[in-house]
Amino acid sequence: MDSHDLRRAGYQDVPDEAGGRAGRSWWDANAREYVEEHGDFLGEDDFCWGPEGLREVDAQLLGPTQSLVGRRVLEVGAGAAQCGRWLASRGVDVVSTDVSARMLAEGAAMNRRTGRAVPLVQADARALPFEDSSVDVAFSAYGAIPFVPDAIAVHTEVARVLRPGGRWVFSVTHPVRWAFPDDPSVRGLTATRSYFDRRPYAETDETGVVTYAEYHRTVGDHVRDVVAAGLTLVDLVEPEWPASNGETWGGWSPVRGTVLPGTAIFVCRA
Ligand SMILES: C[S@@+](CC[C@H](N)C(=O)[O-])C[C@H]1O[C@@H](n2cnc3c(N)ncnc32)[C@H](O)[C@@H]1O
Repeated sequence: MDSHDLRRAGYQDVPDEAGGRAGRSWWDANAREYVEEHGDFLGEDDFCWGPEGLREVDAQLLGPTQSLVGRRVLEVGAGAAQCGRWLASRGVDVVSTDVSARMLAEGAAMNRRTGRAVPLVQADARALPFEDSSVDVAFSAYGAIPFVPDAIAVHTEVARVLRPGGRWVFSVTHPVRWAFPDDPSVRGLTATRSYFDRRPYAETDETGVVTYAEYHRTVGDHVRDVVAAGLTLVDLVEPEWPASNGETWGGWSPVRGTVLPGTAIFVCRA
């Protein structure tokens, strides 16, 4: 790909502030469409870590779910808070946060439909409205981190609100995937970009305003970010694509999932 193609495809430098701001406006504008497209796969009251379909009921990455009862759990970049709702349905004291009012409105509608009222709080993950050391476990399934230029600010905030020894688990697109086209077919199996090219995937409108930005970090970048925030990395989980999952989600698909990793889940301790 030449630089013109990359620009058209959207890999381009954008001002950090504009990229971070787009994280809210894009999700506000696309909340309904996103839930319509992925709602069936995610469920309204289910905890899914990513397109492979790994569910917390099986993975127990937050620890045994029963052990969370009586502890304070925080969901970051919750979207419609399907994960938080699943925990609440098991008696866990959880609060779900997201920067997008429209995603939280989708969550409020799900609260009404399911009869499970998980508390919803609007907050940027880089400025959490919670006291220091007030949370036992924090998590995010593909929330916030991919959409901010400064992921370290998210980890630092999470480290601040976590009690010493508390757990922080977050899933993101597997960094290796960024070297491949976002194509669920065999065309998505040939690397066309450098894994080391950190330019975000960004979309701009006709006036040049950044409307969407998604940030690539290598595995090492993620490790350095959590360590710089004072956290300890305990595990890195790379879910395999199960034969039972025939779902295509954007560039994720069974064709690619059997060959390439799609999701990385970082398990950290404060
Ligand atoms: C892919 S969704 C993940 C939510 C949910 N787990 C799901 O799978 O639908 C990404 C979420 O991150 C949120 N987000 C983006 N930037 C954020 C930020 N700076 N702080 C908090 N949430 C943010 C978006 O509003 C969106 O709801």
